[in-house]
Amino acid sequence: MPETEIRLGVVGTGYVGLTTGACFAHMGHRVVCGDIDQRKVDLLNDGHIPIVEDGLEQIVNDARGVGRLEFVLGSQAAATDADIVFLCVPTPQGDDGSADLSYIQQAAREIAPILKPGAVVVNKSTVPVGSTVAVERELQRDDVFVVSNPEFLREGTAVRDFLQPDRVVIGSADRGAAEKVAELYDSIDTPIIITDPASAETIKYAANGFLAMKISFVNAVAAMCEAVGADVAAVVDGIGSDTRIGGQFLKPGPGWGGSCFPKDSRALVKIAEEHGYNFSMMKGVIDVNTEQRGRMIDKVAKAVGRHHSNLSGVTVGAMGLTFKAGTDDLRESPAMAIIADLRRAGARVRAFDPTTCGELSPHQESTLDGIELTKELIDVADGADVICVFTEWPEFAKVDLDQVAARAGAGTTVVDMRNLFDPFAVKSAGLGYDGVGRN
Ligand code: UGA
Repeated sequence: MPETEIRLGVVGTGYVGLTTGACFAHMGHRVVCGDIDQRKVDLLNDGHIPIVEDGLEQIVNDARGVGRLEFVLGSQAAATDADIVFLCVPTPQGDDGSADLSYIQQAAREIAPILKPGAVVVNKSTVPVGSTVAVERELQRDDVFVVSNPEFLREGTAVRDFLQPDRVVIGSADRGAAEKVAELYDSIDTPIIITDPASAETIKYAANGFLAMKISFVNAVAAMCEAVGADVAAVVDGIGSDTRIGGQFLKPGPGWGGSCFPKDSRALVKIAEEHGYNFSMMKGVIDVNTEQRGRMIDKVAKAVGRHHSNLSGVTVGAMGLTFKAGTDDLRESPAMAIIADLRRAGARVRAFDPTTCGELSPHQESTLDGIELTKELIDVADGADVICVFTEWPEFAKVDLDQVAARAGAGTTVVDMRNLFDPFAVKSAGLGYDGVGRN
C-alpha cells in the first residue's frame, strides 16, 4: 500500500453509507465501513447486500475482492487510522418535524477519542444548518476538521448518481480540509462547489425542497388540466422545453414520498421557523402533496360510484406498494398512505409489488398488515371493483389487459396514478380508465 494512500472510514452502512463506501472503494480508495448491527456486518462480509440498489452488489464485491473495502462492527473500528471519516447515520424526523441529530452526535462522541490528529470528519447525512458546528462541539478536538459534503443520491440509481454526479458540494470553514475531501473525487469529471458549511447544508435541503416543489407544481397543474379539459403530458412537454424550466421531475403522480422528501421538506419549514422565517411556499408544497393523496382517493371512490368515506364491500386491486419503482422502500410511500385510508373506509385491498411478492422482511410484514399480497401481478385483478396503479414499475405496463378485464370483469376502472398505461388500450380491453391530468 503506498504511504500516501488516503484511508477512509464510513460510519453507518445504510443506503448512503454503503453506496459512499463502495463507490469510494471502486474509485481506488481504501475504505472501512462500520455499523452497530453485527448481523448486517456479517451479511456484508459474506457478500450479501441488504438493500435493492442497482449495481451496488457488484461494486461492493469487486472492491472486497481486491481488499479495498471491509466491514467492521462499530464506529470506532471504522474510524481508527482513517484520514477522513464520513458520518452516514440516520437523521430521523423528531416529533416536531425537526431532524433528530442524536445518532450523528453519538457517532461523533464515539470517534472523538480515537481520531488521528489532522483527521477530517465529514457530514454526509442530511443535517440541519448548523450541524457542522454541532459535530465540532461534540468532538471537542482542535486538531480535527469537520466538513459538510451532502449527498444527492436517489434510491435505485444511487451508484450512478455517486459516480456521475451533476456536482459535488463541500462546505468547510477550512480550505485545506475542503480540498482534502475534494481530492477524493479527482477521478470524477464534475464541478466541485466549495463553500461554507451553512451554505452546503442549505443546498441539500433547498435541492430536495425545489424538487418536491416541481412535483407538487405539476400535480397541481394536473388537477387544473382535469378541470379545464387539458392534457398534462402536452403541458409538461410545452413548459419543460423551456430550458429555464427543464422537463425533468415533472411527472404527475400520487404525490411524492420516500425517506427524504417528506422528512426534508418538513425540516426545511422547521429550520426556517427556528431562524424566524415563515417558509410559506414550502408549506404550500407539502399541503399540495397531502391534497394529492386525497384526490387519488376521490378517484377510487368515483370509479366505484361511492363516497370516499364509505367503501365497505369494495375490493381494490393494487399494482405497486413502494414509494417509486426501482426500490423496495415502503417508507412514506403514497401507496401505503392511500391504501391505509381506503382500508379505513372499509375497502379490501389486494396488492402486488415486485419487491414484496417473495419472502417479506420483518418490517415489511408489519407494514403490510391487513393488505393481502398476491403472488402474481395479474392476481390483483381477481374480483377487483377498481384497480389502482400506485408505482410505475415498467413491467406493469406489459400486463395483458384482456386478462385483467377477464379476471376483474368488464367495466372495472383502472385508476392509473402514474399515467403508465395507454388509456385507449385500457378502454379497448373493456375497462374504464382514469389517469392524472389526462383528458
Ligand atoms: C431524493 C432526491 O431525488 C435525491 O437527489 C436525494 O439525494 C434523496 O432524495 C435524498 O435526500 O437522500 P429519492 O427519495 O430516492 O431521492 O427519490 P426520488 O427519485 O427523488 O423520488 C421522490 C418521490 O417523488 C417519489 O415518490 C417519486 O415517485 C416522486 N416523483 C419523482 C414524482 O412523483 N414525479 C417525478 O417527476 C419525480
